[in-house]
Amino acid sequence: MYIRVLGAAAGGGYPQWNCNHPNSRKARDKDPNAIARTQSSIAVSIDGKCWFIFNASPDLRQQLWNNPALMPQPTDPLRYSPIMGVCLTNADVDHTAGLLNLRESQHFNLYATKRVLNVIEKNSIFNVLNPKFVVRKPIKLDTAQPLIYTDGKDSGISILPFAVPGKVALWLEDESKGADFGSVEEDTIAIEVRDSKNKAKFFYIPGCASMPEWLKKRINNSDLILFDGTLWTDDEMIRDKVGIKTGNRMGHMSMSGKNGSIELLKELNIKRKIFIHINTTNPALLENSNERKLANDSGWEIAYDNMEIIL
Ligand code: MLT
Ligand code: MN
Repeated sequence: MYIRVLGAAAGGGYPQWNCNHPNSRKARDKDPNAIARTQSSIAVSIDGKCWFIFNASPDLRQQLWNNPALMPQPTDPLRYSPIMGVCLTNADVDHTAGLLNLRESQHFNLYATKRVLNVIEKNSIFNVLNPKFVVRKPIKLDTAQPLIYTDGKDSGISILPFAVPGKVALWLEDESKGADFGSVEEDTIAIEVRDSKNKAKFFYIPGCASMPEWLKKRINNSDLILFDGTLWTDDEMIRDKVGIKTGNRMGHMSMSGKNGSIELLKELNIKRKIFIHINTTNPALLENSNERKLANDSGWEIAYDNMEIIL
């Protein structure tokens, strides 16, 4: 199974357009230790020819440009895309806005929870995805299901989605519904992705608010995890005066600290741990930072655009 990181940054990308934090500044200045990243997405393929995209970022057009395998090949028909489907883990802007790039009456399957499909259904701008061509397939939590090519054949990739701690997308928060803004289980999911032939599997969890014991057990003894790396410390945006929210408020657990992912996943048997969905303020983005070293020394890699993983 081939995995390509299309975008390793969180919503807004790295550097974020209106952020002048030193991290963003360095990336804008093309400091070799501050490598720019596009917004959160990966692509998965069994044969390197047909692909499924997991989360459709607003940078999708640029991401395709950076990954020619995801564009039509010389021998393909005049109208064709190797993108067979898109799976969504939530309705965040950084994970759904890229769907608008996939208009133009092209066949593909759109996989998301009923809740997220409902959000897309209600927002008429997504009508650009002509239902004659884009088949919306509700995914069932806690059930393995095959990803299907546009010709109806089984791709050999299956997904097992499950709810993780999180919240409803920022742009859908309803303050009248209390502290959780009306969040439900289907708002934030993890996806276990499996290669049916060689049995390889990995977990894709770009958003996760906490790490309860059951989740530790669920991801333990695995080959690979791509995990929420939004913030280094919960209050870094407030501390650095570039934002007003904590990670906790945004539905993201931090990398550092006693309740952080580095500490809580330390004892687990996971062969490869990679942070993805990394915010523009996170010091671990810098190749030469102490935080990067600490993450690396603790067995974590920091995803970058076009990173290639073969399972
Ligand atoms: C998030 O991951 O918290 C969201 O992508 C934030 C946003 O919508 O900007
Ligand atoms: Mn996000």
